[in-house]
Amino acid sequence: MASETTATPRQGILSDEMKDDRGQLIELLTRAYWMEIETVISYITNSINPDGVRAQEIIESLQQDVEEELGHARRFGQRIKELYGVLPGSLDFNAEQSYLQPPDEQTDIVHVIKGVIEAETGAIEHYNGIIEFCEGRDPVTQDMVIDILRDEEGHRRLFEGFLGEYKAEGLA
Ligand SMILES: [Fe+2]
Ligand SMILES: [Fe+2]
Repeated sequence: MASETTATPRQGILSDEMKDDRGQLIELLTRAYWMEIETVISYITNSINPDGVRAQEIIESLQQDVEEELGHARRFGQRIKELYGVLPGSLDFNAEQSYLQPPDEQTDIVHVIKGVIEAETGAIEHYNGIIEFCEGRDPVTQDMVIDILRDEEGHRRLFEGFLGEYKAEGLA
């Protein structure tokens, strides 16, 4: 039938014809998974270390974000499995977030805010790339990543607001 000769196989990204695309997508999702895991680590660190009255807002915000980023990691992991991939073990983990290491002074909140903005920006860039890759290939993954991207955009906007306050006071 003519309707079966369309560009996208009827079983979409799960079809044999799309095995190579699926492999590439699993690589992109695996990178996203590790980014979320590292963000969980960094946000736990930076929701505990900061000192001072001004740190409290940041601490509370990051405590909440830890839960959200963990949820993202789970969703990426689940999708990797659905695509017939296997989630790697911890020995495959490579840390990259140099900018979210503890500052010299634990009252240096600007360091933390800037680090969070950089982490969220990295996620936003990578997830936009996944969304683009999914176009015409995998609407289900695309839908999921759009949802996650919205969270990251919200996180970054919140911390841009924090940074704006410090800048207005000449502290950043
Ligand atoms: Fe996330
Ligand atoms: Fe985030």
